[in-house]
Amino acid sequence: NGDHVYRASTTAPVNIAVIKYWGKRDPRLNLPTNSSLSVTLSQSDLRTHTTASCSPSFSPPDTLLLNAQPQPLSDARSQACLTSLRALRSALESTDPSLPPLSSYPLRLSSANNFPTAAGLASSAAGFAALVRAIADLYQLPQSPTELSLIARQGSGSACRSLLGGYVAWDQGTLLDGTDSKARLVAPRSHWPEMRALILVVSAEKKGVSSTTGMQTTVQTSPMFQTRATQVVPRAMREMETAIAGKDFPGFAKITMRESNSFHATCLDTDPPIFYLNDVSRAAIKGVEAVNEKAGRIAAAYTFDAGPNCVVYYLEEDGDVVAGAFKTVLGEKEGWTGEQGKAVKGA
Ligand code: PMV
Repeated sequence: NGDHVYRASTTAPVNIAVIKYWGKRDPRLNLPTNSSLSVTLSQSDLRTHTTASCSPSFSPPDTLLLNAQPQPLSDARSQACLTSLRALRSALESTDPSLPPLSSYPLRLSSANNFPTAAGLASSAAGFAALVRAIADLYQLPQSPTELSLIARQGSGSACRSLLGGYVAWDQGTLLDGTDSKARLVAPRSHWPEMRALILVVSAEKKGVSSTTGMQTTVQTSPMFQTRATQVVPRAMREMETAIAGKDFPGFAKITMRESNSFHATCLDTDPPIFYLNDVSRAAIKGVEAVNEKAGRIAAAYTFDAGPNCVVYYLEEDGDVVAGAFKTVLGEKEGWTGEQGKAVKGA
């Protein structure tokens, strides 16, 4: 009947890159200048929950609420996702005329994050992954997560990796149309389930320079950028896949920290320079170094995205050594506890 509302709900977790995506070779399709690799956090921690509904009774246009606030949906990135998903649904409808014509109904999308939005906590990754998954479920699309990652990538590059769980690569691809620039499962979470992430929320403020703007300026002005994209990252990708296959935590940790530093060095090498780390971020780096020195081995690794918040990877067996130490090393540091700083256990 004409009032029926079709609905589907899903959640998508945040992913935190250990090999960073930074640079677009095609800004419209979100095609990257290098491959990247991330760990998808568990569903119980940082995630976006999205409900997609459609009905012949809804009036156009499509709408989106994020944490109950109306959000624009007319931007090119969101439209690319909606158009691709509608095209897949419409192809299904034309092969099976008994299916209701959902592709022609206006959409109502409602999302909620359980963490600060746009603070360099990869909110756009979980956001677009959940949006694509929810609409794909609503439309009962048969496409695999990897196929859906091609669509999520057009919303936000890093979102393609949140369609898969565990250890996930985004292969940069070589084709001009981007059909080979998609997520690939390196290893399921069950391969190395002991991995943990501690997220130190240094600041929940919105980030200063958006990743899109930052990347474009870096590509255009950083002399270090070419070497990073063509030599540093390809080598780190190979080494990281080997470390994950062999469950080699010291190897994983060394590559992760070196990669984060390479990415932030390229930001500093941009004209004008981009500063994502602050004094508290640098104190977190010192904290990880102190933990490793005290342990006499590499028990923890830091990494930072386009913001000051620190993600510390460690193994479950080192929970006391790492999470415990952080409170004592940095507990009295200004901005660490209370209003501005908060530790969240992830993964
Ligand atoms: O997907 P975007 O446009 O939000 O870019 C994400 C960039 C980094 O988080 C810094 C790195 C990454 O690979 O996630």
